[in-house]
Amino acid sequence: MGEPSASSAAARFIASIPGEELASALLEWFDPEARPMPWRKPKPEDTPLAEHAYGIWISESMLQQTQVTTVIPYWERWMAKWPDVASLAAASEEEVLLMWEGLGYYNRARNLLKAARKVMELHGGIFPTEHGELLKLPGIGPYTAGAICSIACNQPCPIVDGNIIRLLSRLFTLSATPQAGSPKPEELLWQISESLVQAAARLQYPQSCSAFNQAMMDMGARLCIPANPLCLTCPLQRHCKAFKEGSQSQYPQRPPRPLLTPREDTALLVRNGQGQILLQKRTLAGRNHGFWQLPLMEETPLQKALEAFEPPGLLLASRKPLATLRHHITCYRITLKVYEGKATQGLALGEHLRFVSGKELAAIPLTGSQRKILRKIL
Ligand code: ADE
Repeated sequence: MGEPSASSAAARFIASIPGEELASALLEWFDPEARPMPWRKPKPEDTPLAEHAYGIWISESMLQQTQVTTVIPYWERWMAKWPDVASLAAASEEEVLLMWEGLGYYNRARNLLKAARKVMELHGGIFPTEHGELLKLPGIGPYTAGAICSIACNQPCPIVDGNIIRLLSRLFTLSATPQAGSPKPEELLWQISESLVQAAARLQYPQSCSAFNQAMMDMGARLCIPANPLCLTCPLQRHCKAFKEGSQSQYPQRPPRPLLTPREDTALLVRNGQGQILLQKRTLAGRNHGFWQLPLMEETPLQKALEAFEPPGLLLASRKPLATLRHHITCYRITLKVYEGKATQGLALGEHLRFVSGKELAAIPLTGSQRKILRKIL
């Protein structure tokens, strides 16, 4: 027999979880402890499910990156002005941004408006309550789709957010390092969350999937908090592996840092007769577009740069670096070396390549590394 496959190892682990016991304990705790929130009021009988789901969608969008107490008055004002998709779709972006003012991350508000207009177009204004349809709307990812389907419609859909990652990581002492024979750590969290909400669905409890997912959220926000979790009052204490080991503070583990690839960049400092410095503008495509820099060749040590400087018309004036800066971006550990250079007749100045004075530099957008190295040199 060879190594167990990723799916069978994970499937055995998930099958070993006492899902119904965990879900019952959590629901029993949640029943008297649920935090009151206006969107948590039971759906009146005559309100269509789609309209109820609309309110949950608005609350979940506001709750991303924002505390419940801050969200409540915003949600109430929003629902009073735009109680359904049609009224929201008819609003202007300015009105929506004004209503959102103070919540930050304004793309959330723009996406709500875009999605409402799409719902008018695709679903005749009836807010969808099917996971796959929700995922097609701007701003709705797997967490929000799962939250809407479970909270509003009691579907057994999983959710994973920061609070739930912490809770599940402690409960099962989950590693953040990919394990041989296991799915990726994040995928495993989704599978566990799914198996738990499915266990909740099997219980005799009203709206058990809805209540269970909200109970996980409240648990993560109130008991299983980042520092000094309140384990002594936790209903899951006797199931919690981190509590047994006393290792709560080590979870959730940080994902391992990606390995950085070393890279050498070469830049030239070229001055004209008036002492101005030559700068180039990064082109529209790619990282840091629109920012200015010394003429720079990325992933190019001096030896290679000597073969042909870019842009053409530049030459090296000295092989001794004027300054060296070490920094890193995404997956690269960069050594940036600046050499003295000179311009020849072939240099084509223009909109993206010009000389600037020291005074002008302050008003020109430069990346952090460029500003640092210029400060070293000048
Ligand atoms: N955080 C995000 N959504 C939430 C909800 N529905 N209840 C409590 N906390 C939340």
